[in-house]
Amino acid sequence: MASATQKNTLVALILAAGLGRVAAQDAALETQIVDAMNKVYGVHPGFRANHAKGVVAEGTFKAAPAAARLSKAVIFNGNPIPVTVRFSDSTGVPNLPDGSPLANPHGTAIKFHVPDGSETDMVINSLKFFPVSSGEDFRDMLLAVAESPAGAPKPTKLEQFAASHPNMPRALATVQTPDSFADEEYYGVNAFVLVNGKGERHAARYIMAPEKLVHLTEEEAAKKAPDFLIDELPARTARAPVTFHLKAQLASPGDSTKDASTSWPKSDEIVELGVLTIDKSVADSLEAQKKLLFLPGNLIDGIEPSDDPLIGVRDGAYAVSFSRRNP
Ligand code: HEM
Repeated sequence: MASATQKNTLVALILAAGLGRVAAQDAALETQIVDAMNKVYGVHPGFRANHAKGVVAEGTFKAAPAAARLSKAVIFNGNPIPVTVRFSDSTGVPNLPDGSPLANPHGTAIKFHVPDGSETDMVINSLKFFPVSSGEDFRDMLLAVAESPAGAPKPTKLEQFAASHPNMPRALATVQTPDSFADEEYYGVNAFVLVNGKGERHAARYIMAPEKLVHLTEEEAAKKAPDFLIDELPARTARAPVTFHLKAQLASPGDSTKDASTSWPKSDEIVELGVLTIDKSVADSLEAQKKLLFLPGNLIDGIEPSDDPLIGVRDGAYAVSFSRRNP
């Protein structure tokens, strides 16, 4: 069962996106996207339409002093904040081998449990920037995949899409299989606005940096056991805690906050927000992940969405996927 907070958020999202319409001429974009995912990956009852295979863990976030200077959000005040984290493989295929190139980008979803009982989420992945900048293009990219099976006449629909959206192949070239979920760097891609106690606003993209980055070659990844990433994380946390450094890349003038398909320059200021420590596995991860809903737009005071259109589309699509996997 979803928590009451999740149910309320879900109902609000479904109403906001017009997803509750019964006799609409056209399904809402968010529904079209989840339908397109189901077309590409198949329907797997009980599983997410994307990032279906994952593992849940728990830990703590402790903010660095610089975080409170950027945002008044309670999670950045320096007190330890309990977190629930889910690491995942890409695609809606729940038994995809972890070493498959299709399992890239890998994802991390973090739920911060705020002392007042509320929650805020970050949903990030290993792509350094996103293949497309709008929900419409994301739907069309998925449909192009669906219409480009092996042996399809050349140029395939997907090749045509890549030619007209050059940031797509560029983005996909930024991912590799890690040797562990703990040894990967994850990027927020979408910009959020951090607001501090003085009302100062900074647009930022999150980066979650590991202690060490370890990528495998395709040949090495292909030789790994099908569940090597999923199985390794609980084994590793049983031995010692896993830590990541959460950072904010601050936008400089000229950086687009509404185009997640472009990278921001390396010269941008990067501020350490704090350390995420993951030290507990969850007894029945498969069952735990069913009840969890992470939403990129589930924010608290001090963190606001930017003008990036993907944030709203993502919220709507995640809600559609959640309602289908928890009928
Ligand atoms: C228009 C853009 C996007 C759409 C429509 C979309 C759609 C979805 C959907 C439908 C799910 C399944 C949600 C659920 O059942 O709970 C999902 C999961 C996920 N997506 Fe996206 N996504 C988009 C962009 C992104 C971006 C930019 C990132 C990261 C930077 C991302 C990372 C993830 C992750 C990590 C999960 C798994 C969340 C979990 O563990 O519960 N997605 N996405």
